[in-house]
Order: sequence, then C-alpha cells, then structure tokens
Amino acid sequence: MATSEEKKKKEKVVCVTGANGFIGSWLVRTLLHKGYTVHATIFPGSDASHLTTTNPSGGCGGGLVVVFQADILDQESISRAIEGCEGVFHVASPCTLEDPKDPQLELVLPAVQGTFNVLEASRNFNVRRVVLTSSISALVPNPSWSNTIPFDETSWTDLDYCKSRQKWYPVSKTLAEKAAWEYAEKHGLDLVAIHPSTCLGPLLQPSLNASCAVLQQLLQGSEDTQEYHWLGAVHVRDVANAQVLLFETPSASGRYLCTNGIYQFMDFAQVVSKLCPEFPVHRFVEDTQPGLVGCKNAAKRLLDLGLVFTPIEDAIQDTVESLKAKGFL
Ligand SMILES: NC(=O)c1ccc[n+]([C@@H]2O[C@H](COP(=O)([O-])OP(=O)(O)OC[C@H]3O[C@@H](n4cnc5c(N)ncnc54)[C@H](OP(=O)(O)O)[C@@H]3O)[C@@H](O)[C@H]2O)c1
Repeated sequence: MATSEEKKKKEKVVCVTGANGFIGSWLVRTLLHKGYTVHATIFPGSDASHLTTTNPSGGCGGGLVVVFQADILDQESISRAIEGCEGVFHVASPCTLEDPKDPQLELVLPAVQGTFNVLEASRNFNVRRVVLTSSISALVPNPSWSNTIPFDETSWTDLDYCKSRQKWYPVSKTLAEKAAWEYAEKHGLDLVAIHPSTCLGPLLQPSLNASCAVLQQLLQGSEDTQEYHWLGAVHVRDVANAQVLLFETPSASGRYLCTNGIYQFMDFAQVVSKLCPEFPVHRFVEDTQPGLVGCKNAAKRLLDLGLVFTPIEDAIQDTVESLKAKGFL
C-alpha cells in the first residue's frame, strides 16, 4: 500500500514508452504542456534529442522530461523508468507495414513480451492506470463482422485470417492487447486501451514513421489499397489528447476507437488528390475495403468524453507541409 507521502510524490509523474516515436513525441509534448513530469523511454541508442529541443524547458505548462534508455524487452530498465510514476502510457511497439523477415522475433515478441514487462513493472510500482496504445489493427480485419453495422470497439481482428495472409502487424497488436487484458484482469490492474486509426500530422521526430509514409507513398503515386490496415484517419494531436483524457477520466474503461470517421481508403485518396493536385495521386475505381460500412462519429466513446476531432483535411495538410519541410516529399 502506497503511503500518502509516496502518493504525493508520484502525482503528475508519468512514464511514456516509445517516447521518441511519432505518437510518443506528441504525447510527451501534450503532457508537458499540462505540467506533467514525463519519464520518456527510448530504445537504447536511438535519437531523442527532439524531445528536449522541441519542448524547451518543458513547454508553457512547465513540465519536465527525463529520458530513460530502455528496451521494452529488458524488464530491469523498464522498471527503472516506471518507478515513481502515477501513470504509464505504453506506446512502444514495432510499427512497420513492411513484411518482416522473422515476424515472431521482429513484431510479435516485442509487442507481447514488451507489453507484459510494462504491465508487470506498473503493477510492482502501484501505478494508478496504464493507457495502452493498441490500434485499429486489433479490431480489423475481421471478415465475420456484419456488413450492415460500422465497426466498433467490440470487434477483434481475426488472427487466422491475418496469419494465412502473412499480415503480422495486426497479429502483433491483437496478441499484445489480448495479453494485456488477461494480465489486467488477473492482477486487478487499471488498464484502458486506445485504438487509433491511421495517424497523420506534423512529424516531431526526425525519421519517417509508417503511417505518415502511407500518405507520402499515396502522393508519390502508390496504388496500394491499404486493404488490411485501414479504417479511417486521425490527427496525431487528437490521439495524444485522447490518451491524456483517458488517463485523467476516472470513469474511463475498456477500449476506445480513436478515428475521425470510418470510410474507404479510396475516399481518403480522393480528398488527398483534391487538396494536393500537384501530386500524382492514384484514382481508385473499386472499393479498397469491400463491404466496409462508413460512419462519421465512429469514435462515439471518445466523443462522449468530450474529445473534439480535427478535420481530416487539416491533418493531411499538416502532414504534407511537414513531409516537405523534412525532405520526405
Ligand atoms: N501511427 C499510427 O497510425 C498508429 C495507429 C494505431 C496504433 N499505433 C500504435 O502507436 C504506437 C506508436 O506508433 P508510431 O506511429 O508512433 O510509430 P513509431 O514512430 O515507429 O514509434 C514506435 C516507437 O516504439 C519504439 N520501440 C519499438 N520497439 C521497441 C523496443 N523493443 N524497445 C523500446 N522501444 C521500442 C520505437 O523506437 P525506435 O524507433 O528507436 O526503435 C519507436 O520510438 C505503436 O504501438 C503503434 O502500434 C500507431
């Protein structure tokens, strides 16, 4: 049982894993603005300089960022980062849409074992709540879902379907989330999961992440339909705000879809084409996600908590500007 002095010390101290990635960097920025002290974990040896340069003295909220080098597969180093924290945002997970050579080693193990290690350390240090960044890839593809109802948080990705098609990223995210719920239930840990769709927005980190690469490639003429990885898109700033909202709302529980609508990738491509007529965006003529039921307010659970989504046109424009500024376009 934590003493009241321990509780006081932990207040507004949180850990973010994968803190130097696309979503992690935005989450750190959002937390600093709200005055949190952030234990930011990064993969050992990877570049985290932007966490301090883009958040000088913690931003206007006066928060503080402390960087911890920690492979999520290394229980000891993860524990060091989580000790003394009131909350944990588990964001780190290999995020690539490319086909891995060894799916088990490159994707599934870090996703599942990494999540287990983070939860174990969180339980050991009496963390109040863990916010798990899952994905729409733990909801879809699910071919047995009704073709008259929009996807919602009750859907789970069909693992056999994905394995037979060598779609290992959804497998890794689904197994990690299932393991997390099992662990939370067994040990009475307070866990909330968020399921972002394809995240867009300005890149705070120096490298190109997988979801912004989807837009980059579309602008460069790619004909990839994103058949297995698409439900809609969302501004990364909204995702970070939603993650903090879920941490700060005592009544939040379960799974939260975080997308500004559900619609086909072909519709997204059309919007991109209109906004960026100078780029050779492919015109899809057939459904890219056959049978997908569209829905404007698909993230009803987050909308009910008061989250306001940025128009997707703004997310596209912000991403394009950022891709250009960083030399990716
Ligand atoms: N972007 C999206 O559209 C989207 C949508 C839904 C869900 N998500 C989820 O959101 C999370 C972040 O994604 P992102 O878009 O921000 O991707 P990202 O930029 O690639 O970030 C992933 C982060 O995880 C870290 N990481 C991977 N393996 C690690 C390990 N073994 N130990 C420590 N750190 C490790 C990476 O570090 P290094 O790069 O230094 O290796 C990176 O900082 C992931 O869980 C992803 O599944 C993303």
